[in-house]
Amino acid sequence: MARSKEAFVWKDGNIPDCKVHSKIKLDLLRTYLLSYFNTITANPKIDAINVHLIDAFSGGGILKDSITKELVSGSPLVMIQSVIESCNLIGAQRKKPFRINARYHFADIEKSATNKLLEVLSDLDLLREIEPHCLNIDTLSFDKFLPVVLGRIPSKQKTKAIFFLDQKGWSDATLIHCNQILSHLPKAEIIWNISIESLATFANEDDKFRNSVKKFGVELDDAFTSLPSYSHYSDWRKSLIALFLKQIRANCIAQYVSPFMIQHDGWGYWLLHLSNHPQANNVMKGTHWQHHNGSLHEGFPGLKMLEFNRENWNHTRMWRFDEEAESATHDALVDELGQRIKALQGDPTVSSLLKSIANDTPADYPRIFQSLDTLRRESGLSIRGMNGEIRRSIPQSEDDVLILPKNKQLILPKTID
Ligand SMILES: C[S@@+](CC[C@H](N)C(=O)[O-])C[C@H]1O[C@@H](n2cnc3c(N)ncnc32)[C@H](O)[C@@H]1O
Repeated sequence: MARSKEAFVWKDGNIPDCKVHSKIKLDLLRTYLLSYFNTITANPKIDAINVHLIDAFSGGGILKDSITKELVSGSPLVMIQSVIESCNLIGAQRKKPFRINARYHFADIEKSATNKLLEVLSDLDLLREIEPHCLNIDTLSFDKFLPVVLGRIPSKQKTKAIFFLDQKGWSDATLIHCNQILSHLPKAEIIWNISIESLATFANEDDKFRNSVKKFGVELDDAFTSLPSYSHYSDWRKSLIALFLKQIRANCIAQYVSPFMIQHDGWGYWLLHLSNHPQANNVMKGTHWQHHNGSLHEGFPGLKMLEFNRENWNHTRMWRFDEEAESATHDALVDELGQRIKALQGDPTVSSLLKSIANDTPADYPRIFQSLDTLRRESGLSIRGMNGEIRRSIPQSEDDVLILPKNKQLILPKTID
């Protein structure tokens, strides 16, 4: 069996295996990109968009399904194919010609990978789809590539960019790097792979590990000396993971961070999504729900789904974005949304509610809207349009307002912590 260091090598005719979790990750990337393009072109007047797509751990563009042995498109090909597919789908609904002006920035530390990528793009005739100045392929390690790519993309408030940081472990693409990207390009989104279980497994008290973690952008503090670390080894691992997530969310300059995991057969992976736009966060959550069992989350339902920490880890549950998770999420939201609407004061808009809960719930907008409809039917919540129109089902616009019944008791949760 290939050792992990050799697992991603594209030389001497070798095509690396695409394991189940990698396949799920690539499917999620494809679904996300298709939904992304669909969402940002919702206005039919838009006839062209400009976007930078950055794959900093690109590999050689082609993999082999570890079960069926069929060839599988790697992440740079998924990016290009998603642009072509989106362009065709969106263009078919437009009267005027529609274009996605995508600029691709691919890089890998291994020359064999970047050589193979160029060969695959040429073999599949994809180079004809891309203007030469719109494609860069660099053989560079991520820390060297990042300043190069940020130098190529001018720093502008509105520049659209999606970074895919598909590192193998956890220490090549760090929180510090992500913050550099987001301060240069505030509208960028980052899909960031972190092998969190390998981090927890190899964690130790040496200064070397502590320094690597610091370089990542997290302070370990008392992670090794706190009570859970004395009681159970497994508690200690979980508490370390919770500490990482808490600090990533606190220290990251992205306003929205979704912390879901990929279904795996070995090490547990996070596929974090960082963005400054609530709609982007919503689209990523919708992508996880679409993939059901491919995604995982260990947490609580409703608005507390992500509130796990070093003390309560053992009470968390494994969620698979399936029917069970769906109904638990609905019930918990029905219990908890009233209080959150009340906390927003006045008659808040749907938009302000969505922004305020985006980091607290795995529910995407359709699921939140269903819970608001249940509250409307069962607890007297009134949903009204900007001109006072009464909504008789789910909200029709993010500008709709939410009006709690005068007798606030009606809408308080059945169980209050
Ligand atoms: C998990 S594979 C990427 C697979 C690819 N994203 C896909 O889905 O088709 C990780 C890749 O990162 C490359 N790599 C490892 N360390 C790197 C670093 N520090 N900077 C850039 N690339 C690196 C490896 O050569 C390998 O091709």
